[in-house]
Amino acid sequence: MDQPSTTRKPEPDSALRHQEEESVRRALEGFYRAGKPPWDTGVTPPELVALVEGHEGLPPGCALELGCGTGTNAVYLARHGWDVAAVDLIDRAVDQAREKAAAAGVAVRLRHGDATRLDELDVPGPFDLFFDLSCYCGVPLHRRDAYAAGLTQRAAPGARLLMFGYGPEPLGNPVPEVASWAAGVTADELRTRFAGWELIDVTPGTNSVPTFWFTLRRDA
Ligand SMILES: C[S@@+](CC[C@H](N)C(=O)[O-])C[C@H]1O[C@@H](n2cnc3c(N)ncnc32)[C@H](O)[C@@H]1O
Repeated sequence: MDQPSTTRKPEPDSALRHQEEESVRRALEGFYRAGKPPWDTGVTPPELVALVEGHEGLPPGCALELGCGTGTNAVYLARHGWDVAAVDLIDRAVDQAREKAAAAGVAVRLRHGDATRLDELDVPGPFDLFFDLSCYCGVPLHRRDAYAAGLTQRAAPGARLLMFGYGPEPLGNPVPEVASWAAGVTADELRTRFAGWELIDVTPGTNSVPTFWFTLRRDA
């Protein structure tokens, strides 16, 4: 007897998923090995400054930076009275962030690891602020639910997530071997993926390609 046909898509193979994660890690490592990555400007973006120092700025609390790079923004937050933890996938970046924090004379709990696997990193929270400058938009799609779950579990009531991200395929993918980098991030995706959060602001970036500043607030 014939088996009933099924239209269910096969689960993506775990080896392929691992390969995709490795290609992202290798590409990022390549940027840091080559010297100063293009994003490492040493300047804290005005959007974060406004949230911390603006008229309606947040009072200092606990913050977690996802994809902290060489630590410019984690150090900025610590200097402004925040209790800061910061995570990056690339050990060279974390080493430089440690040096930057030491030179600034501030304490930042720096962790080398994956922002989608926070359970492995001793960053229990709760956090009042999460900051992500172009980390999430490069995370492979199959790890994004885990990213959202990690933040949701660690969010204080009313916590904010300030995220900068590239929209889908701004220039075509600059690193074609990293397929997931074509995906970017959209407001619709964040609304769907971050259950229990409200997307309270979307402001286009000033880049020559589509970029966005997203602000989400965890339900109280
Ligand atoms: C565009 S850079 C921004 C770095 C830093 N925030 C800055 O402003 O200079 C994004 C950073 O996210 C890190 N990253 C990407 N995927 C990550 C992941 N899954 N977990 C932790 N860090 C990640 C990269 O290594 C990189 O340092």
